[in-house]
Amino acid sequence: MIQQLEELGTQALKDVEELDSLQSLESLRVAVLGKKGSISEALKGLGSLSPEERPKVGAAANQWKQKLEAAIEARKRILEGAELDRRLKSERIDISLPSRRLSLGSLHPITLTTRRIVDVFRRMGFDPVTGPEVETDFLNFEAANVLKDHPARDMQDTFFLGPDVVLRTHTTPNQMRQMLSRKWPVRILAPGAVYRKDSDATHSPMFHQIEGLWVDRQVRMSDLKGVLDFFAKEIIGPEAKVRFRPSYFPFVEPGAEVDVWWKGRGWLEIMGAGMVHPRLFETAGYDPKEVSGFAFGMGVERIAMILHGIPDLRMMYQGDVRFLSQF
Ligand code: DAH
Repeated sequence: MIQQLEELGTQALKDVEELDSLQSLESLRVAVLGKKGSISEALKGLGSLSPEERPKVGAAANQWKQKLEAAIEARKRILEGAELDRRLKSERIDISLPSRRLSLGSLHPITLTTRRIVDVFRRMGFDPVTGPEVETDFLNFEAANVLKDHPARDMQDTFFLGPDVVLRTHTTPNQMRQMLSRKWPVRILAPGAVYRKDSDATHSPMFHQIEGLWVDRQVRMSDLKGVLDFFAKEIIGPEAKVRFRPSYFPFVEPGAEVDVWWKGRGWLEIMGAGMVHPRLFETAGYDPKEVSGFAFGMGVERIAMILHGIPDLRMMYQGDVRFLSQF
């Protein structure tokens, strides 16, 4: 019987080494070591042996069992390792592959231009502020010295939301908002959207302005010229020049239209400006004998068109990606 176990065990050991799948290894384990496996079968005749032989055969059987269990376990580890290798290979990710291109948005030319302008004035000490787009008739017109019969108040130009409420037609009401909310000195810049009943190749019912205001003791017209000259040179280049043409705006006296000279383009009108009208100081509760100031207001779209060579205002509101992705 020991001989029989020897043959059985040797053969099983050989088989274990040759098997190459976890599944067949398990089948072999059951076939040899299982309750109805070949070793148990071989031991069935144990009862007919002499009492001296019995323990020897039993011990031999146990030794083979242990040996085979160890061999199967070892083989199992090897096969599991190979299985893991196969999986890793088949699931491998090629990290050297270039990724799909991300499409990032870009800032709108109006945003870019606003930021550029605000940045230049910020360096001269102007604080950026904002005000509401829905404005009172009082602040939009009355407090800016725009009289009741002024053409700008015509129903043609202004979007009225109520008898005394309008969509602001310019950023100028920010001047009074700031003066009413603090004591002088005031040095602010107010960018934002404005609205007028206008729509054609050069006018949009919504567009953008930037208002500037500097109020302090002895602010002079020469200060205005110096500030705007610096602005033009920063935005356009060192060769830029500024020219003032006398003009009328109800909230300034004297008032001017300001042109910049740009190489190859000539003189371009870019804003209105002037010395703050004393009536505005009175409304604000400032003493016009104590303070003076200058103000200016410019159209952002117009400056963006000049800076980027944009031929048609309407391109800025169509949201065409071919246009927008150029900025
Ligand atoms: N508010 C004027 C407009 O909408 C622009 C303007 C002109 C603003 C002269 C000013 C100024 O502050 O002094 O056309």
